[in-house]
Amino acid sequence: MPTKATKRTARVKPGQREEETLRVLISHKRIRERVRQMAQDIRRDFPNEPMHLVGVLKGSVLFLADLARELGGEVSFDFISVSSYGKGMDSTGEVKMNKDLDVSIEGRSVLVVEDILDTGLTLKYLLRLFEERKPKHLRVAVLLDKVERRIADVKADYTGFVIPNEFVVGYGLDYDERYRNLPDVCVVRLGPRGKTKIEA
Ligand code: IMP
Repeated sequence: MPTKATKRTARVKPGQREEETLRVLISHKRIRERVRQMAQDIRRDFPNEPMHLVGVLKGSVLFLADLARELGGEVSFDFISVSSYGKGMDSTGEVKMNKDLDVSIEGRSVLVVEDILDTGLTLKYLLRLFEERKPKHLRVAVLLDKVERRIADVKADYTGFVIPNEFVVGYGLDYDERYRNLPDVCVVRLGPRGKTKIEA
């Protein structure tokens, strides 16, 4: 469901630097409601299936924790770490594996849990990797989708919110490792003349 930034400017947030401004884009209340609906959609498609959640570190951690609790039924987790971004807001365009899964996904119903779908290069890399490992089902849940930034031909099976092309933090997402603990998803801006959009 598309979402627009609200005019509401957050007061000083934990970890906030003087030159950075944050604007709430999606409140924690909306996130909570949407995550609940997503869990219902997933359980409707896989009613009695043990679900193996694969979180993409580190941004998906809060989303995965909430989604797992809403899913009910038999749920297990594993985590993978890849990087496509350096420090800051720009993608390097490369995907590199930092940590592989701990257990095999062969024959399992796997749900890849991602914080945000941007160019789609990370997800494309992951899907290719996981498909080779012969899961029973392979599905993708993303909290946020910046549709207009897409380069790779991939899409999620379950999407929380479609958002505009702005750099967002909070609810697991970071800027230089800060802001992951914000309950809301916020747009971060770097001062009055700072960069507010990511150019393709
Ligand atoms: P993609 O490979 O371009 O789709 O990028 C996916 C990864 O880039 C995400 O898992 C995030 O770690 C990071 N990313 C993309 N956009 C943002 C953003 O707005 N805020 C924080 N991280 C982002």
